[in-house]
Amino acid sequence: MLLDLARSRRILFVGGKGGVGKTSVSAALALAYARDGGRVLVVSTDPAHNLGHAWDRQLSDGLARVFTHEDGFVDAAEIDPQATIERHFATVAATMMRLLPDRLHASAQQHLDQAKSAPGSHESAVLERIAELVEISRDTHDLVIFDTAPSGHTLRLLSLPEKLTTWTETLLASRDRSERFAAAARSVVGTKDDEPSADAELRRTLIARRDRFELLRSLVTDSLATSFIVVSIAERLPVAESIDVVQQLTELGIDASSIVVNRRSPSDAGEVLADRRAREEEHLARLREAVGGIPITQIPLLAGDLAGADALSELAEHLVTAPEL
Ligand SMILES: Nc1ncnc2c1ncn2[C@@H]1O[C@H](COP(=O)(O)OP(=O)(O)O)[C@@H](O)[C@H]1O
Ligand SMILES: [Mg+2]
Repeated sequence: MLLDLARSRRILFVGGKGGVGKTSVSAALALAYARDGGRVLVVSTDPAHNLGHAWDRQLSDGLARVFTHEDGFVDAAEIDPQATIERHFATVAATMMRLLPDRLHASAQQHLDQAKSAPGSHESAVLERIAELVEISRDTHDLVIFDTAPSGHTLRLLSLPEKLTTWTETLLASRDRSERFAAAARSVVGTKDDEPSADAELRRTLIARRDRFELLRSLVTDSLATSFIVVSIAERLPVAESIDVVQQLTELGIDASSIVVNRRSPSDAGEVLADRRAREEEHLARLREAVGGIPITQIPLLAGDLAGADALSELAEHLVTAPEL
């Protein structure tokens, strides 16, 4: 049962093709978890955020309490990569400017601006915020659910820590270069007493970032801590993509422990839907065969818009009680 999975992990990623119900499942699972007394943080990493819609309120990059029940609660956030980029570079820039003589500020700023808009900097910022949220929620939340972007994108993100380490290292290395540059400059303009400490501080900022990514990677690939829920619908393309995702997760060393097949058509609501349901069975059978023993939870097509805690309750009820295939 999905609630057992949630109770036994520290981090859950919810992924799948666009529009299949990732956000609805993330929000409903968070709701069920909080009703059960858990403290959960649900975070959207999808640039096309719609987590706010599910809770029927405006969300931001910071935490907002969207639901409470006795000791349990749901906090929610929508990651804003630009905000993370600005924060990170503001810290680095401030230290760098303190370290460098005034006349080198312009070229240092240029260097930072280049790094800021380098390919992958948005993705790295999303990952940095993921790592940060995992870190800051360690003592305050029992579980973090990441409502992710359509699958390909998320998998790229999860495989990024390696590349990101290199990215930080590039920054560290170019820092080494500008250090030599600064040393040369210092020999001309003379040294200031606080320079060595500013330098150490900058180094600490960059190394802390690298360590944070490494920690995230080890946590994400630890199947006792982290699991991935694949959401799909019983149609040809989403099923094919889900099979792919499971395969890629396995290659990345990430535990894919649950599949949700959402929006199953009813068999007793007219011929059209009954016909659809029969077709869905074929796709479901293919999925079942391809993913081995991973449990599959089926959720029926529900009426109405799934926005706000009341509407999510119905979906949560299904998530918690639906038998697994
Ligand atoms: N079981 C369901 N029955 C009916 N509508 C659903 C169901 N699950 C999700 N929806 C609706 O489908 C749309 C897409 O769901 P959403 O969770 O936003 O998908 P994703 O986050 O994967 O893009 C939303 O309007 C949502 O309310
Ligand atoms: Mg979504």
